[in-house]
This record gives sequence, structure tokens and C-alpha cells, in this order.
Amino acid sequence: MELRNDILLRALQRQSVDRTPVWIMRQAGRYLPEYLATRAEAGSFMNLCQTPELACEVTLQPLRRFDLDAAIIFSDILTIPDAMGLNLYFVSGEGPKFEHPLRSAGDIKNLPRPDIGESLGYVMDAVSLTRRELGGKVPLIGFSGSPWTLATYMIEGGSSKTFSRAKKLLYQDPELAHQLLGKLADTVTDYLNAQIEAGAQAVQIFDTWGGALSSQAYKEFSLRYMTQIVSGLKRENEGRPVPVILFSKSCSTQLEALADTGCDALGVDWTTDLATARKYVEDKVALQGNLDPATLRESPEVIRQGVADTLASYGTGPGHVFNLGHGITPDIDPEHLGVLVDAVHELSPQYHL
Ligand code: CP3
Repeated sequence: MELRNDILLRALQRQSVDRTPVWIMRQAGRYLPEYLATRAEAGSFMNLCQTPELACEVTLQPLRRFDLDAAIIFSDILTIPDAMGLNLYFVSGEGPKFEHPLRSAGDIKNLPRPDIGESLGYVMDAVSLTRRELGGKVPLIGFSGSPWTLATYMIEGGSSKTFSRAKKLLYQDPELAHQLLGKLADTVTDYLNAQIEAGAQAVQIFDTWGGALSSQAYKEFSLRYMTQIVSGLKRENEGRPVPVILFSKSCSTQLEALADTGCDALGVDWTTDLATARKYVEDKVALQGNLDPATLRESPEVIRQGVADTLASYGTGPGHVFNLGHGITPDIDPEHLGVLVDAVHELSPQYHL
């Protein structure tokens, strides 16, 4: 099936486009009433992820409302630890939890490299079904967490503010930490390649907690494994390149190093303006971002101004993908996202003359 809107894929490869493509991290989710209805129908978040028809439905919901240039497959980064036997569940108001968090060296040594087809086949089924349902309207993005970000949840047993246990492992037994991160890097590589084979046309690695590490620890425990993954990915499918996006949150001082991993594009959070980020990476890679998600709580005028400033900050020429600097939050009025998307359409062509 021919892809009718390929501006996301073109921009990720720094090719010319006539306007800036836009998609939003967490574009399917709790700020949409139709998402809440489908989740209720599924009975739980995990059932939603594991039922391809429902995962496909919520993937498509934001595209029915907004003129977005990509879909991102509905799933979660924590499906990998779940498949490794940690058993993911959600407690309302408390976020993700594991029944069997990693608590000893033995837990790490015994961690299996899961058979992706067997344990995560539901994700690949959702990807191929969604590709079929999209019918070439826009590309479908696949994703995974980074090894370090996944490790934090696996060691802490859920979300954390301090990462005390995870950091203790890095400092007290770096060799064991490397064993864990190496297993995760192999699994993430298999998982993303399976998504690509199932039809994902670009992939993003979410390194949400990269910014919790010192610069040196970041290079040793996060960047190194993302570099390994990038070099193990299938970079072409169906006769087309499959661009790879790395998003290390709160890591703008690492943008130069990230640009040398061999990826195509970098996500940028809102703390660094795109003009500065662009200088750091010397136009080696495309940049994705980076409006502060809090802007979406404000008036249409403020949102439009935020979009205008973000576009102006990147400036002219190819290689910009519009997004927020992190995911959209559940309290946002969907109409406000419409204002953002329309503003990108209206205001971006002047940067592509
Ligand atoms: O972007 C998309 O639309 C695709 C779907 C997607 C989800 N999670 C759905 C989801 C993606 C890309 C993710 C990634 C993810 N999951 C990350 C990295 C991205 C980031 O924001 O930095 C992280 C850290 C997770 C782990 C996770 N899963 C958390 C912290 C939560 C929220 C828990 C809470 O109660 O706030 C989840 C659950 C989750 N994943 C939800 C959604 C829509 C909400 C679950 C619900 O419906 O109750």
C-alpha cells in the first residue's frame, strides 16, 4: 500500500518537505474521552495493550480528530519486562508496578531473553492490523524504552523519583548492571526489529530517565546500549529506509554524543531551544520537539504563540519534526491539541520555501 503522506519520514531523513510534520508523544491516551471508553471496554490497560483490535482502535482515535502526520502504535515500554517474567500491573493512581521486581543478582542472572514472537506477538499483531487499517494515510511509528529506562522500573519495581536502588546497582556492581543492560539491549533490538518487520515505518527509543544519570554514567550505562541497539536495527523495509529517533529526556548536554550514535533524529525536551540544539548536532540529524506540554493548558493564543516560537527557533530548512518536549498529560482539553496541530500546518510552510 502506497504511503500518501510521507512528510514525517522525509523530515526524519532531513529531506525537503513543504511544511513541518507533527505528531505528539502520548497522542493516544487519557485526555481523549473515546480512549477512556475503549479502556473501560477492555477492562484494564493491559487487556487494551494485549487485544490487537482495541490497541489499533485507540491508535487511530487521535487521527480521527486531528490532522496528524503519524500514528504511534498503542502499547507501553513496560511490555518487555512483563515478557521477561516480571508481570506488569497497574494500581490506579500509583502507576506501573511489577509482581516480581529484580531484587537480587540471581534475579538478573536468571532473566530470560524472551522469544519476541511468542511473548510479545500481540504487539506485532497490533502493528500489522494498524498498518492495514491506516491504508497508507500516514506512517506508523513503533517504539521501545531504552535499556536504562526499562532497568529503572525493573529494579525499583515501579516509578521512582530518586532511582536509589537502580543507582546503587550501577555504583556497587557495575558488572552486574552491564549484564542486565546487555540483556535488555539484545531484547530491545529483537523487539524493534520485529515491529519493523510487522510494518512499523519509523521507530523511537524512549530514554525517559537518561537525565537522572551523571554525564559519565549516562555514557556508560545508557548511551552505550542505545548505540548498540541502533547498530543492530533493520534500517530498511519494504524498499524504504526506517528512520530511528532517540529521545533522552533532560539530556541536552548529550545531544552531540547522541547525534554520533548513527540514529536519524533526536527528540529534544523543552529546556533547550531548538536553535541551540541544532548548533550542537551540526545538522547531522533531524530534531523532534519541543513545545512545553504545559503550554496546552493555556489559551489558543498562547498555544499558537508557542508553536510560532518553536518553529522560529528551529528556523528554515529541513530536519524538524514538530512535537511536544514530552508526552501530553491527561488533564488537557483535546480542543487545545487541535489548535496546536492547526497552527503547525498554518505557520510552518514559510520555513520550507
Ligand atoms: O504515545 C502514544 O500514544 C503511544 C502509547 C504509549 C503509552 N506509554 C501508553 C500509556 C507510549 C509511547 C508509552 C511510553 C511509556 N510508558 C513511557 C515513555 C514515554 C514517556 O512519557 O516518557 C514510560 C515511562 C511508560 C511507563 C508508564 N506506562 C507510565 C509511567 C504510565 C502512567 C501511569 C499513570 O498512572 O500515570 C504508563 C501507563 C500508560 N501507558 C498509559 C498510557 C495511555 C495510561 C494508562 C491508563 O490508561 O490508565
